[in-house]
Amino acid sequence: MYLKFPVKYTKIIEKLLSQLGYKLSDSYTLASLVLELSEHYNSRVISPNIWTSSQRTAAYLVYFFPLNYLRITRAMLLAKQVGFWREPRHWIELGSGNGAAFLAFLDNISIDLTGADFIELSKEANLLMYEFLKQLNAFDLKKCTWHNQPLPLKVSQQSLFISSYAINELSQFPLWAGTCKDHFIIEPSLQETTRQLMNWRQKMLESHHYAWAPCTHQEYCPLIKHSKKDWCFDRFFIDPPEWFLEIEKFLPMKNTSLTYSYLALSKEPPLKKEKWGRIIGDTLKEKGKHRQAFCRSSEREFLSWLKKEGQPPQLPRGHLLYLNSVMKKGSELRHLPNDLETLDLDKPFSP
Ligand SMILES: C[S@@+](CC[C@H](N)C(=O)[O-])C[C@H]1O[C@@H](n2cnc3c(N)ncnc32)[C@H](O)[C@@H]1O
Repeated sequence: MYLKFPVKYTKIIEKLLSQLGYKLSDSYTLASLVLELSEHYNSRVISPNIWTSSQRTAAYLVYFFPLNYLRITRAMLLAKQVGFWREPRHWIELGSGNGAAFLAFLDNISIDLTGADFIELSKEANLLMYEFLKQLNAFDLKKCTWHNQPLPLKVSQQSLFISSYAINELSQFPLWAGTCKDHFIIEPSLQETTRQLMNWRQKMLESHHYAWAPCTHQEYCPLIKHSKKDWCFDRFFIDPPEWFLEIEKFLPMKNTSLTYSYLALSKEPPLKKEKWGRIIGDTLKEKGKHRQAFCRSSEREFLSWLKKEGQPPQLPRGHLLYLNSVMKKGSELRHLPNDLETLDLDKPFSP
């Protein structure tokens, strides 16, 4: 499944770009701005406010916004499949930027929101987000509040803490978020950042939360338990707009597939998923066999196909898979049934 960036955003991006002094057709100029911002992010020296610079804002709007929107959409759909979005919530977002997470939510998830608080240090980013929401007329703006201070907010039984690509800019996980009922966090797929997220999961499981996605179990994360360097991430394919591809032509990085890490937690338990697990790796070709990482408990396991058994099935990373009785050899699950199929994203999970 290829995820598309909705066409409706192109007009808004064009309008905002023209206010910043750029045109969407200036692919070469925009690509050079993207490269500068990308190098800035890669340097890991986080500047407090990229949004005061018109160059960096333009780069964010044409590149990081569409990519983050798609990553968030994908994570939201995976969480939707296991029933995470189930009742009205009060949205509390940290580091909302120009609104990628909120917009992805409004486009893909149909539960009501009683209100939304956005904690975002940058006033410039808040104005941009306001502009997107106003242009789209997709949500009652009277229910939204923007805060420029990292203030402790009053949380309730309905509070959903959400953050996308922002926690890695903080010196530590926001502890107050732990009191919210639900958590939905998306972070870059980077070793240290994602391992922090996986450790946050463990901390939350020890304080009355349950993992909903990507984990199908409540045990210790096998990648934390059995490895000092591995991390859990998803990968998926995208179908970007033409103007994005034009900019990308001038960039060294190509984005046919995107990676990211995510975590959906709640104080309510999810449906039990006995015999279900998630594909957490690509197919690896090894001597005499193919292997693919699979997660269903605190054990580190791989689906494994011996060469003599023929070509392995194409099992997409991130999908759920039902496994009845299988033969286990060390960490490998062998002699798998021929008709092994993952659960497509458009099919809701039921035990
Ligand atoms: C990489 S951007 C991500 C924006 C948006 N969530 C997205 O996915 O596109 C990180 C955002 O976090 C904001 N931010 C950084 N530190 C923050 C803090 N301590 N409190 C609130 N916002 C913060 C930055 O201003 C920036 O807008």
